[in-house]
Amino acid sequence: MKQPASHISTGKRGHARKADRANKSRRGERTAQLDAGVKRWFAGAAAMFAPSQSSMIPMLQSAQAALGYLPRDAMQVIARHLSVPPALVEGVASFYAQFRYEAPGKHRVTICRGTACHVRGSGKLMDEIGASLGVEAGRTTANGEFTLETVACFGACALAPVVVIDGKVSGRVSVASLKTEIDQTATAARPARAAKAKG
Ligand code: FES
Repeated sequence: MKQPASHISTGKRGHARKADRANKSRRGERTAQLDAGVKRWFAGAAAMFAPSQSSMIPMLQSAQAALGYLPRDAMQVIARHLSVPPALVEGVASFYAQFRYEAPGKHRVTICRGTACHVRGSGKLMDEIGASLGVEAGRTTANGEFTLETVACFGACALAPVVVIDGKVSGRVSVASLKTEIDQTATAARPARAAKAKG
């Protein structure tokens, strides 16, 4: 028998509410499983960014600035916030060289691969330092000490080849001088960490 229209609509509303509660509960469970850092970041970011696709890049940048890289969890919460598939967020992020997918090491070594630096030997620097650290560009050493990165141009071409270690710019760098600087960075960090562990 045909039901009155009002009855059908009440039934549909009840069903929609149930589905909404189930979705919220699933969202809650997924949020509970998130990495603590991602949860903390998202607690602030959710209110800061409108749930529209134009927020995607700013949210990715915000997550990386807060977390140091883009964990998968962060891309998934962004996708949920924007109501888009996670694959779309991952695809967009992968299009930009600025995003990292691994936690960075304690120290960052960034070698310029721009034309001026390339002409003055940055390719050799990259090969030798990569071999000496045992990593390729974009990766972090197994002990978590160093992340090796490249950049298109630091804007200091007169100093080529240019390398930046933890924000300190060095120009006219040679393989030998860069190895020394990396050794000194590692050595300087050890006593500071030992003192912190004791203190
Ligand atoms: S090309 Fe290296 S600083 Fe410009």
